[in-house]
Amino acid sequence: CSVNDTGFSFPVNCLDRHVHVAPDKVALIWEKDEPGEEVRVTYRELLELTCRLGNTLKRQGVKQGDRVTIYMPPCPLAVASMLACARIGAVHAVVFAGFSAESLADRIRDAQSETVITVNQGLRGGKVIELKKTVDQAVKQCPGVKRVLVHKQVLAQHKGGCETLRELLCSFLQEMMKEDTCCEPAVMDSEDMLFILYTSGSTGKPKGLVHTQAGYLLFAALTHKYVFDYQDRDIFGCVADIGWITGHTYVVYGPLCNGGTTVLFESTPVYPNPGNSLWAVPKRLRINQFYGAPTAIRLLLRYGNEWVKKYDRSSLKLLGSVGEPINREAWEWYFRVVGETRCPVVDTWWQTETGGICISPRPSNPGAEILPGMAMRPFFGISPCLLDDKGNILLKNNVSGALCISQAWPGMARTIYNDHKRFLETYLIPRPGFFFTGDGVYRTSEGYYQLTGRLDDVINISGHRLGTAEVENISHHVAVAESAVIGCPHEIKGEGKMLSFLGYTEETLSAELQELISKKMAKYAAPDYVQVTHQLPKTRSGKIMRRVLRKIVENKANELGDLTTLDDYEAVQQIITGHK
Ligand code: PRX
Repeated sequence: CSVNDTGFSFPVNCLDRHVHVAPDKVALIWEKDEPGEEVRVTYRELLELTCRLGNTLKRQGVKQGDRVTIYMPPCPLAVASMLACARIGAVHAVVFAGFSAESLADRIRDAQSETVITVNQGLRGGKVIELKKTVDQAVKQCPGVKRVLVHKQVLAQHKGGCETLRELLCSFLQEMMKEDTCCEPAVMDSEDMLFILYTSGSTGKPKGLVHTQAGYLLFAALTHKYVFDYQDRDIFGCVADIGWITGHTYVVYGPLCNGGTTVLFESTPVYPNPGNSLWAVPKRLRINQFYGAPTAIRLLLRYGNEWVKKYDRSSLKLLGSVGEPINREAWEWYFRVVGETRCPVVDTWWQTETGGICISPRPSNPGAEILPGMAMRPFFGISPCLLDDKGNILLKNNVSGALCISQAWPGMARTIYNDHKRFLETYLIPRPGFFFTGDGVYRTSEGYYQLTGRLDDVINISGHRLGTAEVENISHHVAVAESAVIGCPHEIKGEGKMLSFLGYTEETLSAELQELISKKMAKYAAPDYVQVTHQLPKTRSGKIMRRVLRKIVENKANELGDLTTLDDYEAVQQIITGHK
């Protein structure tokens, strides 16, 4: 395939130019569910795969600007699918493969995708996941879908190891293998859409955030290089699913644009045991930068130091944390035990909306100070601002406020797909002149930033973002008249969820709702605790006072704050009495 590096097409920047220089360099290491079965894919192989897939999509009728939904676990074919879309100018919309058929259908319809790419089955924590069945159910509810491309993995057959990527390919890949390995990259405008990625907001409907071509890639590559001090021969291990923004930016686009070797983790942190999953991998694969969520760190901390110390971690140079606040205990353990005080810990703050890391320590900067559990300082080009409730800028230090950004930056999302009004209302109108992140932040006397949590009705469970209204909307059960969902502190998951419901017994309802919500949305969305009550605390205008419920579950019923707008105190009293 001739290398065409005119224009801004992504795959050229992420593949072709590296194939020019080092075709046999490993681009991807697929760390499969069973430890020790990793598969390595070189830049040349990934380019070939991407081109064949691009040609297959074109032959199937996918055109520039069309949306393609990808419902796959982390694997080389998923990465090639993203890159193939980019190569032909189509817009990918990856949906986390843990989402239910209903959630998938919502996202397919919203993106108006005519094409879905999936695999028949996945493996996670030793369990087979029937992805194709979920897609079949979803597609029944999506009349606009014209084609579903299914890659058939024969899981059992490959237990015990497979040497090359090609051995794994069959079914639609066989079709694909007939295609040419050359697929001319589409020349795109820098502001053309690259992908849509869904995330939760404070209303019931997930938002399809749109990222565009040039700015996103620039920001992904720069932040990957400078925050993680990524060097040419490094092996970068980001334990995120490609269904989330962390997977997009720091498993796929950032590392590949920098010509790096990136690891795709398919498994869970505790499979087959709490050592072999995460800590054995840096040793086996010689990982240099390890990037994960505090939830996994807290979980593994509970299993003790032995699991970590069993494995040589001398390859590690830097540790990263993302997605939620990292508490002091977890930070110290990560730094002292996992990184043997040798590896700086970067607590990176950012969002689906920001495209890449916005506030983070940058240890490559000589003399840079890092304080535990703090995101520290803005990245190049990011100008954070603290605002109070009235929209005044807080200029002094030692102050808390709403985290806003006062200037556009290359990686920022440009809109919500098909709903620019909502984009403006969510991010630009709340604090006119600023991008409103929805997070609270504290600025220390030294000018360092420490995130303090969401200011809206979004909760963060194991680093996954979830809108309270989203869960309330799907909690339709014969015994539930109305519900309020709130986050409550959880030792491992950061926040768990609690629901208050009207009219049913707690035990049976709790189990039924857990099943219902897992099925309708995703397992991680199932409530930890259900409390049944006869009425919910509401304002006189009928709004549920979730902040009051939050105080009760935090055992701070004596700090309920201003209750002047509360309609009936009896509702609060009932919940306090019933709360265990
Ligand atoms: O509340 C912040 C929290 O995660 C939210 C963004 O979630 P999402 O779009 O799913 O992206 C997650 C991966 C970037 C933010 O609004 N968050 C993210 N990083 C941190 C954080 N909270 C505290 N500290 C962080 N380092």
